[in-house]
Amino acid sequence: MYHRFDAVIVGAGGAGLMAAAQIADNANVAVISKLYPSRSHTGAAQGGIAAALGNQEEDNWVWHMFDTVKGGDYLVDQDAAEVLAREAIDAVYDLEHMGLPFNRTEDGRIDQRRFGGHTRNFGEAAVRRSCYAADRTGHMILQTLYQQGIKHQVSFFNEVMMLDLLLTDDYVCTGVVGMDILTGEIHVFHAKAVLLATGGFGKVFKVTSNALTLTGDGCAIAFRRGLPLEDMECYQFHPTGIYKLGILLSEACRGEGGILRNDLGERFMERYSPTLLDLAPRDIVSRSIYLEIQEGRGIGGKDYIHLDLTHLPPETVETKLPDIADFVRTYMGLDPVKDLIPIQPTAHYGMGGIPTDVEGRVIVDEHKTVLPGLYAAGECACVSVHGANRLGTNSLVDLVVFGRRAGRHMLQFVRENDIQPMPQEPDFRARAEVARFLENDGHENAADIRVELQEAMMSKAGMFRNGDDLMELEGIIEDLRNRFSHVGVRDKGKTFNMDLVETIETGFLLDIAQAIAVSALAREESRGAHVRDDFPERDDVNWLKHTLAYRTSGGLQLRYKPVALGRFEPKERKY
Ligand code: FUM
Repeated sequence: MYHRFDAVIVGAGGAGLMAAAQIADNANVAVISKLYPSRSHTGAAQGGIAAALGNQEEDNWVWHMFDTVKGGDYLVDQDAAEVLAREAIDAVYDLEHMGLPFNRTEDGRIDQRRFGGHTRNFGEAAVRRSCYAADRTGHMILQTLYQQGIKHQVSFFNEVMMLDLLLTDDYVCTGVVGMDILTGEIHVFHAKAVLLATGGFGKVFKVTSNALTLTGDGCAIAFRRGLPLEDMECYQFHPTGIYKLGILLSEACRGEGGILRNDLGERFMERYSPTLLDLAPRDIVSRSIYLEIQEGRGIGGKDYIHLDLTHLPPETVETKLPDIADFVRTYMGLDPVKDLIPIQPTAHYGMGGIPTDVEGRVIVDEHKTVLPGLYAAGECACVSVHGANRLGTNSLVDLVVFGRRAGRHMLQFVRENDIQPMPQEPDFRARAEVARFLENDGHENAADIRVELQEAMMSKAGMFRNGDDLMELEGIIEDLRNRFSHVGVRDKGKTFNMDLVETIETGFLLDIAQAIAVSALAREESRGAHVRDDFPERDDVNWLKHTLAYRTSGGLQLRYKPVALGRFEPKERKY
């Protein structure tokens, strides 16, 4: 089936919906989403959205920018960080005016709470910067923006999975190809401009806070089409996932006063971050947990530690952290008001992704050459405001600030440009891929390959890495890729063929894993969340630069792009 729009947005999370809201009244826009929009993963973001409103104590967007740059271990592009911190304030008010039900201060302003790495006066002390709606902030953003989409009559194509990106021979984007999961039918979307807002790729790891659907679809498709992926080696582990399950227990627990304790009952963060304690940035807290476990102070000598909320007033837990309380009761059979909660770091967020400029335009090389008509925003994109380690609550800001910018720029682009002809047989590649899986009676099973991949990624490219492991991992991934070429799906039907969907997703994960492994092996330093046991120091002389990974016919090629420096000189990172 053929569709023609001015703009097509792939992904109905915060970034995609924010962009759609900018375009809908002035051009025709479609949002295609693998999920029903209100199930997008933005809905899983819990603790808040950062903006220097200063509603609780003095704050300043420059301090927010500084924290973001330092938090990212100086791999952040400072022009982008300035946009993020400056525009966060207006973006939050924009959401408020759309009807987002934020928690309120006693005098009726948006309430704010503490989050890791957010400080006052360039690191002096923690500051309350996170605007929140209980522990359902992402959920509320998603509902609010989806309502805007309905109100502005956006055309939604729900449960349509993107399979391909359409580019002309001279590299102009002309649309996307997708598959309707309900019917198996292939759809071609012809457009002047396309925004990729497909979210992250946490399912590449075994223990993750990410939903089943977070398989890096947009990143993998762009990568297959010859576009680079930036800084894929920088992957964040959130300190507090439910032990073994990985389900997120928001940093807001610590923002409200929760404490991490080891087997001796010690508040061990006193050793690692004397100023910010449990509210140090995530890379530092996750590493500290791991070190406690390594030194035998995990609970009962095991590989987890405790999150302690028992000293908080019960009404704080019940009213400001209601979903967390519910998760702990449901999944662990514990009462967070009385019991200590077993937690371990969980794979959470990819700092890297499809490179863009601050307008959301996709760039294809180290010279910042723009690919006309193609945009990316949200977790699948790398603008780069998170560098080597994202601060908590900066993902929701990233979505709304750069989703809004991308939407506005797309509107200008569709006004100024004619639609380009599509390539001949635009759906050829997508149909061939689907047919390959349906027709192949191969002896390999995608589910087995996915599990093996997730285990290998967790143990060899997780929080601590080294050259030998990463080299071994490259071999494992190569082997899994070979096996994947023999995969066939057992369900040959067209209706809701999740066997087919999950097989296609496994192919995406293999591409993502390869980009992570190769980029991580090359980066011979430790910076933010990328920690090499064999190169324990940050090395600004050789590695203050962004990785660009390209797929080539022979494998992968790495190139590098300078970091945009500015107001803040790189310094040693202490908290
Ligand atoms: O801990 C959290 O609530 C997660 C927030 C984030 O990843 O920004």
